Amino acid sequence: MCGIVGYTGNLNAIRVGLEALKRLEYRGYDSSGVAYLDKEKNIQVIKSQGKIRKLEEKIDKINPYSNTAIFHTRWATHGEPSDINAHPHIDCKKILALVHNGIIENYREIKENLKDNHKFISKTDTEVLAHFLEENLNKEKLETKNILKALKLLVESVKGSYALNIIFKDLDKTIFFARKDSPLCIGIGEDENFLASDVTAFLPYTKKVIFLDDFEIGYLTPQKIYIYHVKTGKEFLLESGKIIKNTLNKKIENIPWDVSQAQKGGFKHFMLKEIFEQPKALEDTFLGQKEVLENLVERLKLPSLIVFSACGTSYHASLIGKIYLEKFSNLPCICEYASELRYSKFPYPKDALFIFISQSGETADTLAALREAKKRGFKTLAITNVLGSTISREADYVLYTYAGPEISVASTKAFSTQVLSLYSLAYYLGKKNGLNLNYKSHFSKVFTLIEKLRNFLENSENLKNIQEISKWLASFKNTLYIGRYYNYPLALEGALKLKEISYIHAEGYAAGEMKHGPIALIDENFPVIALATKDSYLEKLKGNIEEIKARKGKVVILSDEENLKSYGDFFIKVDYLEDLTCLLNILPLQLLAYYTADFLGYDVDQPRNLAKSVTVE
Ligand code: G6P
Repeated sequence: MCGIVGYTGNLNAIRVGLEALKRLEYRGYDSSGVAYLDKEKNIQVIKSQGKIRKLEEKIDKINPYSNTAIFHTRWATHGEPSDINAHPHIDCKKILALVHNGIIENYREIKENLKDNHKFISKTDTEVLAHFLEENLNKEKLETKNILKALKLLVESVKGSYALNIIFKDLDKTIFFARKDSPLCIGIGEDENFLASDVTAFLPYTKKVIFLDDFEIGYLTPQKIYIYHVKTGKEFLLESGKIIKNTLNKKIENIPWDVSQAQKGGFKHFMLKEIFEQPKALEDTFLGQKEVLENLVERLKLPSLIVFSACGTSYHASLIGKIYLEKFSNLPCICEYASELRYSKFPYPKDALFIFISQSGETADTLAALREAKKRGFKTLAITNVLGSTISREADYVLYTYAGPEISVASTKAFSTQVLSLYSLAYYLGKKNGLNLNYKSHFSKVFTLIEKLRNFLENSENLKNIQEISKWLASFKNTLYIGRYYNYPLALEGALKLKEISYIHAEGYAAGEMKHGPIALIDENFPVIALATKDSYLEKLKGNIEEIKARKGKVVILSDEENLKSYGDFFIKVDYLEDLTCLLNILPLQLLAYYTADFLGYDVDQPRNLAKSVTVE
């Protein structure tokens, strides 16, 4: 939620930063803005409601040049999307400008204390921080040590979450920062440095990164990076490529991602590209995890219960994980939404293992649930796609997926790689639990899966068929996805995909539950997508389809059984691959959502009101 960028170096910070900001647009897109130092070292601000291209139009008209700039793309929490509420925010005297990702919980209190001497113009929580710093720098000279002192006080006084980039009048080529509970990392370049909410922002310039931790403040110039931990007083200093001081024990990590992965590469949308990337993402994940998994499971104590927790699509992956782990590892599992788990009493056996699944590794609810579990002494494992993300660093154990950067708000390849990770994890846990599993047959299927996925995507008839169904589906207001066993979580995920990008109301249901409610809705205007592959109690599902037809409902059948064609109005043929069939079924569901939304002319990658990385509660 909200993306921030800072750049200082020899290039035009406005252009470099703007391109970097575009790569973070998936984090929020209701308004954006930039602050920079002009030739006289005064702060200038340009902001605009709407998508980043609106900001770009304004920038193009002025065509400013600066070596230092900070940027923000917003997902509104406090104050509606508008030019005034857009970041950066400034203080009364315009000595500073700042951008913020997070929520300031005690902003009213701070505002109340400052209101006699300061004029607030926006409705945001963020603006109070600009005035807070101004107030505390009031009698001080604007120099690094005084600013750090004021920032320290800010960290000690402010409640909530924040990643902050701040520039000061007259302090050329210097950006200050602070972080608590919102992601922020430093990209280390040659004679240039970056600050950003995530690494995709600066990937074309550098893969060298330092992830900031909570309570860290500091500043960077093109040659220097200084980090100070407010609670411990420990420091890190890097100057001209050399680490001078490192009591903080910070690591410089190398990001394995390729720039091209964060570009559309000829596809109309990131979502379509990411759907097509799935065979490769699965292959990379499978091969990348092999050794790690063996070692990881060796270190894990077999628990009496596994508690999965996640949000959104990652939660749906956990539901499939539950089936895998119960089937192949013989370990009981439960799945809880992280937003519910975090406030629960955690009434679980002491040896329960908590598995948190998160593409971004930054989702606020998942992170909070992880912290609660740890506080209560449970062991935690994170499955995440983003190296160095907060969740990956805070969990006791981590298993990375290798999906590469996922830019589209609607998650696709991250989901598939999460599901595959759980399939592999289930095998190793099963082996440890003494189950007689055949490694070769279990895993050779993964390569068949990858090949089948490639074949499906290369077959233009498949795509044409789904496009036709999508055109038809686009004319309805409601739809229902039903399935059993593996296909139940898929029904939930298929429905989520459709509703989040096409705005057609879609519900996913366990097919057996249909007669307990949803069947009341069925008529000729209420299409049903029936997931009917043979691993999922097919005979029973056929019964459900008959019940829908008897009520004049229209049915799209997704099945490996050709003879089911006559049961429905539309048919999507998929292959059967035992326990991996669900990873074949997900492809047409993602494509169906994609083509429907695209046909309706919606902004597929950036659906309204949503953001990819939900870093606020
Ligand atoms: C947001 C995204 C979803 C994602 C969910 C959980 O809602 O739009 O695509 O599934 O967050 O995100 P995570 O990064 O924790 O998997």
